[in-house]
Amino acid sequence: MAPTVTSTMQVIRRYAADFHPKVAILLGSGMGSIADQLANPITIPYSALGLPASGVAGHASLMMLGNLHGVPVVCLKGRLHVYEGVGYEPIRLWIRTLKQLGCAQLILTGAVGSLRTEVGPGELVAITDHINFHPGNPLMGPNDETVGPRFVSLENAYDDGLRDILVATAARLNIPLYQGVYIATLGPSFETPAEIRAFRSWGADVVGMSVVPEVIIARHCGLQVACITGVTNLAVGLSKEKVTHEGTLQFGEIAARKLVKLIPEFIKDTVNVLG
Ligand code: HPA
Repeated sequence: MAPTVTSTMQVIRRYAADFHPKVAILLGSGMGSIADQLANPITIPYSALGLPASGVAGHASLMMLGNLHGVPVVCLKGRLHVYEGVGYEPIRLWIRTLKQLGCAQLILTGAVGSLRTEVGPGELVAITDHINFHPGNPLMGPNDETVGPRFVSLENAYDDGLRDILVATAARLNIPLYQGVYIATLGPSFETPAEIRAFRSWGADVVGMSVVPEVIIARHCGLQVACITGVTNLAVGLSKEKVTHEGTLQFGEIAARKLVKLIPEFIKDTVNVLG
């Protein structure tokens, strides 16, 4: 039988009977090391939750529960991408389970290509808004009114209040942080130079193959969202360098080193401000 939020919660409760995370963190390519900072970690493989494993290099497939500088959190180490052919169902299950666990905020990370030549590999970009260039929407199909409304607003989807806290945290730590609009392509092929020129004219600043389905599902069930991306490359056609997955992992590590410092402090500040 296909797993449901209820069956997934039962599995989690077998591993962690009485752990109540406040914040969820989804770690993208090369950013899994953030989960290594958890105190008293409890690790649950996605396979035990009935979720497919991520088949992408740089992505483990683990849910980890633990305390990050005293704040109870859940980390999703390894992401499910729509281009892997898993469909939207596991992604819905994944995000809605975080809400059911009691999380109020979801912090997303991810690797992106930059459409702005002044924002190069290794830089961090906080996402302000998105353009959904996927051929679908994760809320297609019958709506469960107990989860959220049929027609969900995506105004302020990337919460302004959370981003204000993030900007202040980054400034305090002297970590440069840009802001910009994310355009989601399905992948797994990278974009063409013509697509990148078009996306620039639409107002996109960075391009990636994830984040957007997760944000739509999270907003539908009422999670507040912050998204911090690491630039792994200039988008195709903007530099002489070829865009490769190996290259994205290398610069993902530079961005990850900054995120490893930024995210725990951001979570501490968020809990201090929002409770
Ligand atoms: N395009 C799409 N996704 C990406 C890129 C890119 O250039 N870099 C990292 N993720």
